[in-house]
Amino acid sequence: MVSYKLQFLVWATAFAGALAEDFEPGEDGKFTISSDGLVAKFIPYGATLTNLFVKDKNDEDVDVVLGYDDLSRYPDDPGHPVYNAIPGRYANRIGHGEFTLDDETYETEQNDGNNTLHSGTNNWSFRDWNVTAVSDDSITFSIYDAEGESKGFPGDVYANVTYSVAGSTWKISIEATAPTKRTPLLLTQHTYFNLDAYKNPETDLIWDHVLYLPYSARYLEADQGALPTGKILTAEPGSINDFASAASLPFGHHKDDPAFKGNCGADGACEGYNGYWLIEDAPEDAVVATLASAFSGIKAELKTDQPGVVIYSCSWMGGDQELKNSTQGIEGRTKVEKSSCVAIEAQDYPDGINHPEWDRLDAQITGPDELYTWESSWTFGLLGDDSAGEGEGEGEKDACEEEEEEEEEEEEPVKEEPPAEEEEAPEEEAPEEEAPEEEAPEEEAREEEAPEEEAPEEEAPEEEEEP
Ligand SMILES: *[C@@H]1O[C@H](CO)[C@@H](O)[C@H](O)[C@H]1NC(C)=O
Ligand SMILES: *[C@@H]1O[C@H](CO)[C@@H](O)[C@H](O)[C@H]1NC(C)=O
Ligand SMILES: *[C@@H]1O[C@H](CO)[C@@H](O)[C@H](O)[C@H]1NC(C)=O
Ligand SMILES: *[C@@H]1O[C@H](CO)[C@@H](O)[C@H](O)[C@H]1NC(C)=O
Ligand SMILES: *[C@@H]1O[C@H](CO)[C@@H](O)[C@H](O)[C@H]1NC(C)=O
Repeated sequence: MVSYKLQFLVWATAFAGALAEDFEPGEDGKFTISSDGLVAKFIPYGATLTNLFVKDKNDEDVDVVLGYDDLSRYPDDPGHPVYNAIPGRYANRIGHGEFTLDDETYETEQNDGNNTLHSGTNNWSFRDWNVTAVSDDSITFSIYDAEGESKGFPGDVYANVTYSVAGSTWKISIEATAPTKRTPLLLTQHTYFNLDAYKNPETDLIWDHVLYLPYSARYLEADQGALPTGKILTAEPGSINDFASAASLPFGHHKDDPAFKGNCGADGACEGYNGYWLIEDAPEDAVVATLASAFSGIKAELKTDQPGVVIYSCSWMGGDQELKNSTQGIEGRTKVEKSSCVAIEAQDYPDGINHPEWDRLDAQITGPDELYTWESSWTFGLLGDDSAGEGEGEGEKDACEEEEEEEEEEEEPVKEEPPAEEEEAPEEEAPEEEAPEEEAPEEEAREEEAPEEEAPEEEAPEEEEEP
């Protein structure tokens, strides 16, 4: 009897120990962390942020990120666009599904036209991560990506992502190792925002938001499949791809320009933006991106240790994704429409493993005995309230007194009007507006997916077009 009891005790203790490691979500199926200013909710699937509540100008809590109310939709909807997840192990595109590393050529899945997008069909954003630590204000997810799981990539990868909140700042830290082989490793956090939570009766589109990238005058030229060509271009102040010259430029400052409809490729079908802006000469700890909306009054400020941001304005959304109507939308508005959100993804140069001329190989290849790290934070505040970045250090410039050190002296706010000479530009892109055929068969991978059609390959390592 005694020994039986003892055995039970030993067993029960072991079981309790196991349970302690087993973090359980709340009744809503999500893990919730909070601070004075923020409430953030997560699920292990994709290490995904499902909700982020911030205060608007009326002191109401507003859920500023996209997602599903019905959690079963995350894995079930093959069209889900990497909502607020961690894509990996190599985010964004790999040109032609191929790269060469240490004299060996590797083939990855061509799941986006002829390119690889977010590492193919066993990407990290569609896997169940383990929850390995939880507190009131932080949560850590972990993934073991064994060799062979990310199709075509060499070696094992381990990664941890820690999300934490403090005051009005949401911080994201990622660490990863590749203990067995050198492998491409390029991560990001892929959150989609609509700072009005789709409640602005005037519009659900994202173009009324303001986007300011003070250190990002230069961007990567991309082909029709959204694959970088190798060229680095400079956006002249007031031109379609300019977000650097003035703090008050509406995101849609060129929305009436005929070129806007095809500005992100797909032969004229990708409206707006799906590209990469370099962050250059930013002081340490600077705010490198500000997204704001007058309707809610909310301002979101990004700091990151990454050298650029992908800006994707949701052209491939088109009404299939239902809104989280528990927290977003208004009567009669139930779907996520084309161009109604923006993903801002701090990361290294897309397809940098195929562009040695950019000098990103050291940053994008991780091997045994190396630690990959990535860190970003979003601080939320109100427009006109300069205390938003409080406690987060200096170096940030205030919205309106931006001063580019570079040769672009243009400073005055550019208004909605596109420059005159472009006004009459004949529309040269393909007239058709609907998603091109490639998209139909594979519903998935819609995110940022540019139906291919890409420009002639051969990204000649052309010299950068320096200002
Ligand atoms: C990621 O993997 C899922 C599951 O296989 C797939 O449906 C999805 O298309 C992939 N994502 C991308 C961007 O290819
Ligand atoms: C989660 O942890 C288990 C047990 O350690 C491990 O077998 C599994 O591979 C982990 N899952 C992921 C996605 O890393
Ligand atoms: C992830 O976290 C676990 C547990 O804290 C730790 O043992 C492991 O070394 C971490 N891995 C990486 C890649 O940071
Ligand atoms: C919210 O969306 C669900 C699922 O699409 C739908 O069944 C429900 O009627 C919607 N609720 C409201 C208030 O619109
Ligand atoms: C994709 O690859 C196939 C096979 O190599 C080729 O025929 C086709 O032209 C390529 N498409 C594009 C858009 O590059």
